Amino acid sequence: MSEREPIGVIGTGWVGLVTAACFAELGHRVVARDIVAEKVAALQAGELPFHEPGLADLVTGNAERLTFTTGIAEVLDEARLIFVCVQTPPTHSGDADLSAVIRAVEEIGSAPDRALVMKSTVPVGTGKTIKREAPELAYVSCPEFLREGTAVKDFMEPDRVVIGAGTGDEWAANAVAELYEPFGAPILRTDVASAEMVKLASNAFLATKISFINEIANVSEEVGAEVTEVARGMGLDDRIGPKFLRAGAGYSGSCLPKDVSGLKQLAGNSGYHFQLLTSVIEVNELQKRRLIGKLNKHLGSLAGKRVALLGLAFKPDTDDMREAASLVLAARLESEGAAVVAYDPVAEERARELLPAVEMSQSAMDAVDGADAVVLITEWPEFAELDWAEVRKRMNTPLLVDGRNFLDAEAVRAAGLTYEGIGRPSASEPQG
Ligand SMILES: NC(=O)c1ccc[n+]([C@@H]2O[C@H](COP(=O)([O-])OP(=O)(O)OC[C@H]3O[C@@H](n4cnc5c(N)ncnc54)[C@H](O)[C@@H]3O)[C@@H](O)[C@H]2O)c1
Repeated sequence: MSEREPIGVIGTGWVGLVTAACFAELGHRVVARDIVAEKVAALQAGELPFHEPGLADLVTGNAERLTFTTGIAEVLDEARLIFVCVQTPPTHSGDADLSAVIRAVEEIGSAPDRALVMKSTVPVGTGKTIKREAPELAYVSCPEFLREGTAVKDFMEPDRVVIGAGTGDEWAANAVAELYEPFGAPILRTDVASAEMVKLASNAFLATKISFINEIANVSEEVGAEVTEVARGMGLDDRIGPKFLRAGAGYSGSCLPKDVSGLKQLAGNSGYHFQLLTSVIEVNELQKRRLIGKLNKHLGSLAGKRVALLGLAFKPDTDDMREAASLVLAARLESEGAAVVAYDPVAEERARELLPAVEMSQSAMDAVDGADAVVLITEWPEFAELDWAEVRKRMNTPLLVDGRNFLDAEAVRAAGLTYEGIGRPSASEPQG
């Protein structure tokens, strides 16, 4: 395989566009295809269809090696390794919806010198089914672990690369391994089913860690412990580690919720009741709603109250709103009769469609004007820098609920606000 093996990418969402741009950065020619014509037109004009730090520079900097197209033929003409990066959203039953994957597989077709490299997160057994339908096509499972907000760095500096392939498809697995070699990460070679399971199990484990610390937070509130200290103490244990131990309003986003329910469903479909994941999901749903209880505790009924949300995206540095905690919170607030106003530095456009009744502000200070409560829901760095005395002055009732334990509670209280975190000592009365 030449160092400059051309690459085909199907789907130019978060995973596909990052994959395309990063391989182009390594010197490969990349043909990236999407079925949404406006998305392709925007990319051809050098515009990104979503917010992802560092990606625009990579796309424009490698423009000569990157082709965006709506045509599948261009991809198949150029590349023998085709990375499938299409969406796999949840169905109503909690299974993964594989319709986009199936369509992509049909479009790629079967050819002995072509390999489908599956980056989409799919149920265990998908590779086997595809291989049965298209036996000539080589199949490689290469799950993606990037996180939105740090996607480029995660792709270029992965903790590990997992490559799963069956007998007869070793040539394709070797070619994919060679592509990833420059990143210098450990490369794990497995069978297809195990590679598929590594992805689902990793996300389910991360979600379990989050639900676990959230329950510790809830108990801490009852018994007077401070969960941030507890998490620090736990995280210093090498066997536990500090990451994914931040208590808050629950896990959200395009991956964890759907992958956890996908694994639970996959287990159920195979006759195994995955009890732990059932609880992880339930704890998470309840956690998103706990913020309402904190508001009720101070304000009583929320009818007619004005509540300001700081942040809407499911995490900072993205405008992705899929499964964002803000969606549940806004809906609950509206059904309680509250007026909801919100500010997010980048997610407003996507949020507008999903939250038509929410009044969008152009700054955090505008959002808090006249509010009876402020709820921090996305930990954008700019929120840590707010002038809390000014916030206090603008608010109608000085209540701040920190849904991510992101703020300096003492600084907020010193400015005269009532601070409520998650799993932190109960709010004291305002000091000023
Ligand atoms: N977003 C993440 O952080 C992340 C991380 C790891 C893994 N994943 C997984 O990767 C997959 C893709 O996720 P995403 O967030 O990039 O999705 P996305 O919805 O942002 O992008 C998918 C893209 O595929 C396009 N598409 C659908 N069918 C197509 C076809 N037949 N030909 C060409 N394009 C087609 C869509 O138009 C869309 O632009 C999912 O399975 C997801 O679970 C996502």
